[in-house]
Amino acid sequence: MQFQSFEVKKITPHVGGDVSGIDLTRPLSSQEVEDVEQALSIYGVLRFEDQALDPDKLKALGRHFGELHIHTGVKGNSEHPEITEIYTDEKSKHVNGEVWHSDLSCDPIPPLGSILHMSISPEAGGDTAFASSYAAYDALSDRMKAYLDGLTATHDGHFAFSRFNPNGKFTRASHPVVNTHPVSGRKGLYVNRAFTSHMDDMPYEEGVALLNFLYDHCERAEWSMRFRWAKDVVAFWDNRCVQHLAVWDYYPELRSGIRVQIAATEPIS
Ligand code: SIN
Repeated sequence: MQFQSFEVKKITPHVGGDVSGIDLTRPLSSQEVEDVEQALSIYGVLRFEDQALDPDKLKALGRHFGELHIHTGVKGNSEHPEITEIYTDEKSKHVNGEVWHSDLSCDPIPPLGSILHMSISPEAGGDTAFASSYAAYDALSDRMKAYLDGLTATHDGHFAFSRFNPNGKFTRASHPVVNTHPVSGRKGLYVNRAFTSHMDDMPYEEGVALLNFLYDHCERAEWSMRFRWAKDVVAFWDNRCVQHLAVWDYYPELRSGIRVQIAATEPIS
């Protein structure tokens, strides 16, 4: 698809766009910002090559799209608290994002998106998997869509982070199970395996069965993709219409990058 300031090629039919013709290392024009926001709401995740971003440039890029969201579950870089280091080597016991999730859905107002710049990626593997919540919603039966309409679920940071930080204090919030994207107007499923702890206002076991169906459905291969990394590749994903998973298939190799999250101004609705 041709936007005014760059071109995007689909990576798969439902999710992912490869962007060419934009330089993210310098200040963006208002047209470029608008085009990125539009493209993000259509493709869910955008892939950019050859973008040599250091921490200051990554923060400046993120600030075009909103305030930077300080991570509530993981400590930021000591000089740049807005930046989370994504780092895995032979000493790592786990990786960030190893369970399907939408970033910080446990926050009352979760970040609208995240931008990750990769410095070192393994020779093979280390992809991030992304799945379209729009396509998952669209594929449900009309009866299931009607049933889900108006339901809410609780998302709890304790669920995702307490095994790494048993004494930490984490956020918890309730969000609609079906959300409407504020830019595209499309509906999507907003529950995920890492953070959603239970369905609200229904017997716990009934909620577990429903959530397990929805997680399996959201994560299906038909509407997911593998995002391939290399040095200076940048991903910008939209937490309101995709969920993702960091695939740790490259042990003991090194993978290293930096990420900012963009604060939203409105709750999920
Ligand atoms: C994350 O879940 O934000 C990390 C993604 C990745 O490292 O691929």
